[in-house]
Amino acid sequence: MHDDLSAILIDRDSIAERVESLATELERDLRVKVESGDLIVLPVMTGSVVFMADLMRHLPIRFRIEPVRARSYVGPTTVANQPVQLEGVDEESLRGSHVLIVDDVLDSGRTLSQLRSVAEAAGALSVAACVLLRKETAPDTPCEYVGFDIPDEFVVGYGLDYNGLYRNVPDIAVLRPEVLTEGPAGA
Ligand code: IMP
Ligand code: MG
Repeated sequence: MHDDLSAILIDRDSIAERVESLATELERDLRVKVESGDLIVLPVMTGSVVFMADLMRHLPIRFRIEPVRARSYVGPTTVANQPVQLEGVDEESLRGSHVLIVDDVLDSGRTLSQLRSVAEAAGALSVAACVLLRKETAPDTPCEYVGFDIPDEFVVGYGLDYNGLYRNVPDIAVLRPEVLTEGPAGA
């Protein structure tokens, strides 16, 4: 294990198993939807990149991928009530399409709720969201597909980062507290 990590919260085998079962749920629901309109998947960059890559290879249906970016985080804490900045949303293409938002983690819920509103306002036929992780911090944010419910801890790996690092860790892991206060080793 990487020196900066203190524990593995969800190991790679459990992730792989859950991603496959999530894809089975998604495929069943989305197959019906694609009969009435195109499906556009919006992975929220960069955190969802590993999840999206694994998930989509278990989804043998027709869809386009339009990555979007959401900026809000500077380190492990959020600035309260500051809206997320969304980039790369092509509202024109969402009109009349079914939309699936894919994100790594649902924390405050702002990214998902803003993106959902934008897609609805653009005239999407339907909007659903799928996250790998959901923290207990936003119980009221709607999210149709959830991989794992986790405690309110800062986690990295499987695409999730701390200051751009650790996305390549294959498991979902907890950072040593010193890393959050003193910075990553070797930085
Ligand atoms: P929300 O808008 O507060 O729900 O934030 C979701 C975004 O915050 C995610 O897409 C992540 O980029 C980031 N985030 C929230 N919690 C964590 C974490 O524990 N580790 C890494 N990134 C996180
Ligand atoms: Mg993110």
